[in-house]
Amino acid sequence: VNLREDKVSDETKKLISSLPTDKDSQGNLCKYQGCWYYYNTFQAVISFQKHFQPQDTDIILASTPKSGTTWLKALTVALLERSKHHDDHPMNHPLLSNNPHALVPLLESSAPDLTKFSPSSSTRLFSTHMPLYTLKEGLKGSPCKIVFMCRNAKDALISRMHFRCKYEKIEVNSSVLEPMFESLCRGVTFYGPIWDNVLSYWRGSLEDPNHVLFMKYEEMKEEPCVQLKRLAEFLGFPFTEQEEDRGVVEKILELCSLRSLSDLEANKSGKTVNGVDHKFFFRKGEVGDWKNHLTPEMESKIDTIIEEKLRGSGLSF
Ligand code: A3P
Repeated sequence: VNLREDKVSDETKKLISSLPTDKDSQGNLCKYQGCWYYYNTFQAVISFQKHFQPQDTDIILASTPKSGTTWLKALTVALLERSKHHDDHPMNHPLLSNNPHALVPLLESSAPDLTKFSPSSSTRLFSTHMPLYTLKEGLKGSPCKIVFMCRNAKDALISRMHFRCKYEKIEVNSSVLEPMFESLCRGVTFYGPIWDNVLSYWRGSLEDPNHVLFMKYEEMKEEPCVQLKRLAEFLGFPFTEQEEDRGVVEKILELCSLRSLSDLEANKSGKTVNGVDHKFFFRKGEVGDWKNHLTPEMESKIDTIIEEKLRGSGLSF
């Protein structure tokens, strides 16, 4: 069974036949609204756009894959939960017993079925890898807050390669990396071209800064306190002076650090609804790990492409 095409309905197959198609080293892709999807994800995107019932207080955590989604989910959960978990007794904190992906479901996923997500009185958190224009269609004009996490494309590529090798139980080597690198350069990658996806949020954040926040993984690593406060303010839950004095900012960062999260039993064992081991989401979390894998030629090739694609936008990543 091809997992990426399993459960694709005849109706979806018919739709796909009218779309551009291509493939990468992991499967067949179709291009919908400027973005490439494996077929089962495309079906989920369509379903999201048709059936999702947004609430004005929803918060959407967006990213391209392997760009720090898990971290952003953990930080946002911790921000929203902090009033309930005072100080040093966070025994029942949801992050201690759940993988962040279990707490923040992906919008374009068939499991759990989002059509069954009923409105609730509390803030709901969702995640997505879709570009902003496709996401907005499903939000149907609802003024939800959207946070986007961007990461250097070379680091995200290396992260994805390691993730894939663990998932497929294959060895990391150049015969895995090279086709993935070529797909990245061609722009034919799952949820890519990465530059178009990232630019959609970049432009969205410039047009509507109250509803779209653009964050960078590298900036989170560089100045975590500043960035966490920026996130809290944007979401409408700024830290009070008292909280800052009590060290709440630092405590949240500690709770959500790669080391703390990956040490938890909930993240060492178990799988996501899509069958991915929780532990695969935690690796090095470093900036510039691509230097250990890409040749200078590869570096210069992808840098030139991305520079050209971003020219005039005011963005670099
Ligand atoms: P590396 O493979 O470079 O280590 P995503 O969550 O979008 O799938 O991204 C996964 C990447 O984020 C991995 O990068 C992973 O190690 C890193 N990561 C996961 N949890 C993190 C955390 N709490 N802090 C910083 N980085 C984290």
